[in-house]
Amino acid sequence: MTSNAELREIATTVARRAAAFALQRRRDGVEIAASKSSLSDIVTRADRETEQLIRDTLAATRPRDGFLGEESGGGSSQSGLTWVVDPIDGTVNYFYGIPAWAVSIAVVEGDPEPSTWRALAGAVVNPIAGETFAAHAGGGAQLNGARIHVNEGVDLSLALVGTGFGYDAEVRRKQATLVQELIGEVRDIRRIGAASLDLCSVAAGRLDGYFERGLNPWDHAAGALIAQEAGARVAGIGEGPADRRLLVAAAPDLFERLHPRVEPFYADWE
Ligand code: IPD
Repeated sequence: MTSNAELREIATTVARRAAAFALQRRRDGVEIAASKSSLSDIVTRADRETEQLIRDTLAATRPRDGFLGEESGGGSSQSGLTWVVDPIDGTVNYFYGIPAWAVSIAVVEGDPEPSTWRALAGAVVNPIAGETFAAHAGGGAQLNGARIHVNEGVDLSLALVGTGFGYDAEVRRKQATLVQELIGEVRDIRRIGAASLDLCSVAAGRLDGYFERGLNPWDHAAGALIAQEAGARVAGIGEGPADRRLLVAAAPDLFERLHPRVEPFYADWE
């Protein structure tokens, strides 16, 4: 049986290769292939090609595992493991040339559904920054091979908090009302534009906390594990597993202040 550390190495190797490919495609020039949920929710040709590269590589090395990707959907698992992939997280940053996008690859056990899966390993690679975040369950989190840890002992009033917005205009307006309230209660708020990097930023102490509604499984599968392995608490509504309704991540002491602050806003919002 493959160990979790070996799975982390596979995720890292494939994510680095895919990130180098996506970076080359960026240098060649970006082309929008389609819009998805709204006109601002774009998919580039590079998203599709990068996901195909990852899918083909994993199919060759791990033929019995399942696949769940942002662009090409699912493929069933015979082994009980599924690779959950965002080929380019932060597609809008990628399109504009903002250097905050990443390849995100996780491998989970159980149904590929965030409320029930157990994440075993993951890697998030930002090729422009030359940064590889990686973790495996029980093995701690790393940035370029060095251990990373969340910031502890940060009061909510001094916390630098990340968040993100959905692609639907109505949803964003509502999300912005919470930001409008919270911005007076924390050090400041960041909207980096790539959920995987937000979570890795919490893991590395570059953000104290992060919350977002509307994330897809591939947006947070790897980053949430990396944040947890770096000491963060990650949860959703009712402090159950994170899902589309809510994800909050922070060191446990800050989580206890941040989660009750944002959860009521989202709890009744279907
Ligand atoms: C998006 C980014 C963004 C977050 C959105 C995601 P994509 O992923 O992670 O930061 O706010 O919710 O959908 O579309 O760039 O892969």
